[in-house]
Amino acid sequence: MVDLSKLPPIPKDSKVRQAMGLGIGIWDYMEKNNRELGDTFTLTLPRQGPMVWTSDQKMIADILRLKPEQVDASLVQLPMDLGENNTVFLNGKAHQDSRKIVIPQFNTNKLKGRATTMHEIVTEHINSWTIGQELNIPRLIGDITLDVICYTIFDLRHGERKEKYKELMLHWMLEATSDTNFTLAQMVGAKDWRRWLNKKYLKRTAEGKMGNGKKGIFPWKRAVDLKIQLAAMIREDIEAARANVDEDAIDMLSILSRATNEDGSLLDVERVISECVGLMIGGHETSAATGAWFGIWMQQRPDVNQKICDEVIESMQKEGKYDAIINSELPYVTACLNESQRLTPSAVGFIRWLRHDTQIGDWNIPAGTAVLPNIYLTHRREDIYGKDVLDFKPERWLGGAKKPKPTEFLPFGGGRRACVGMNQARQQLRIIFGEFARRVEFTSEFDGKTDMPRSRMIGGQTEPEKGAFVTVKTIRPENYGFTEQSAEKEAVTA
Ligand code: HEM
Repeated sequence: MVDLSKLPPIPKDSKVRQAMGLGIGIWDYMEKNNRELGDTFTLTLPRQGPMVWTSDQKMIADILRLKPEQVDASLVQLPMDLGENNTVFLNGKAHQDSRKIVIPQFNTNKLKGRATTMHEIVTEHINSWTIGQELNIPRLIGDITLDVICYTIFDLRHGERKEKYKELMLHWMLEATSDTNFTLAQMVGAKDWRRWLNKKYLKRTAEGKMGNGKKGIFPWKRAVDLKIQLAAMIREDIEAARANVDEDAIDMLSILSRATNEDGSLLDVERVISECVGLMIGGHETSAATGAWFGIWMQQRPDVNQKICDEVIESMQKEGKYDAIINSELPYVTACLNESQRLTPSAVGFIRWLRHDTQIGDWNIPAGTAVLPNIYLTHRREDIYGKDVLDFKPERWLGGAKKPKPTEFLPFGGGRRACVGMNQARQQLRIIFGEFARRVEFTSEFDGKTDMPRSRMIGGQTEPEKGAFVTVKTIRPENYGFTEQSAEKEAVTA
């Protein structure tokens, strides 16, 4: 048992109230604790070690510097069965080796190679909408992300197999991260819960029992069924990739199927499946949640949205075409994404469980405690971002503005375990919101408002409590802005 008297202040709320504070209205709860207890406070949730949340810059610097042997990632509270050998749960050298396989797939050249297809996917989605259609932004971004994931991981763009993958991925992720499964995992302990699910998955896979995945009152059984079916498809693809090795294939599945351990042996099939499903989960709800807040900002700030539209059009006119690589790197849309992730980050914090007593800032934090840089509160510090810290002001990122330090801007975490998909996520969101600004006009309940809706946790990410619904008012043609005058005549408006 950790001696709580050695830890930063703990709110007077009961453990259950603290857990609820992290569920619905998490931002308000962080602000309340910040007001009452300061930059650094400890939450003590049921059946878990204490968690020290901090926006103190010295403490965050120490957390980012933690060495692999000082932390235990297997204690991360993810309740879904990714397989315990997934990058996220690995420690030390195994963790770094695993990242080395995946990270090169998100380097600049690889991303440039994917930009045009990402744009095609966004175009297909926009072209499929009708005037007056109501869309929920997080689900819509999630749907686009799944198409990008099918392409990135399996090199699938269309067809039955892609649709089957998409359906299984979506349903598995929704079941695996449902409120019920999250709560059960909290009660049992996430690691034990995952191991229990994984045992069931392996046993039933060995017996060839595919399950139904749709019926049944037990949410964990549906999650296991869906994982079995999804994994069976991935297993077929791994076998095919290994039977016909194509050294030029750059989809993740082919790369992971070719990857080897230190002794030259191929990665275990279950390990490849585990990394594939890990990348799906890593990129899905995170992007959906980030997109939800970005979309709300754009409804509240049509002036900013118009500037994004102007920036994309100017680039098209300069290039003589829509160039996905150039348009995914434009400075103003990048500044808007930064500003949205600063004020409304999808992850409130990221976690490191300490193996030993460790000096973090002025505190000697006991072993068995988790330390979390508080992303939300850090991004709202006046001493970092100035008096206008609460204003949505993309200009603060432009014109030679001072770049924040790694401890000051953390939407993708930091240090040795920082998000591997960051560049892909950012590229994708810039293309999506650049094209929304250029081609689509939405109306919504957020128009003319200045307050953000209350937040709640969905799949470990902070999203607007009741979704972010918008209605399609105008869809402009694909060439809008390039041949501006003729294009404007063709725009369909409600
Ligand atoms: C806007 C979208 C995204 C956000 C906000 C986000 C955020 C994060 C955060 C906060 C972490 C924890 C980092 C830490 O502990 O220091 C993380 C880890 C991770 N993310 Fe992302 N992410 C996003 C998109 C993606 C995408 C697109 C992928 C892959 C396709 C991905 C794959 C991963 C993986 C594999 C890890 C674990 C890294 C490790 O443990 O070494 N993420 N992400």
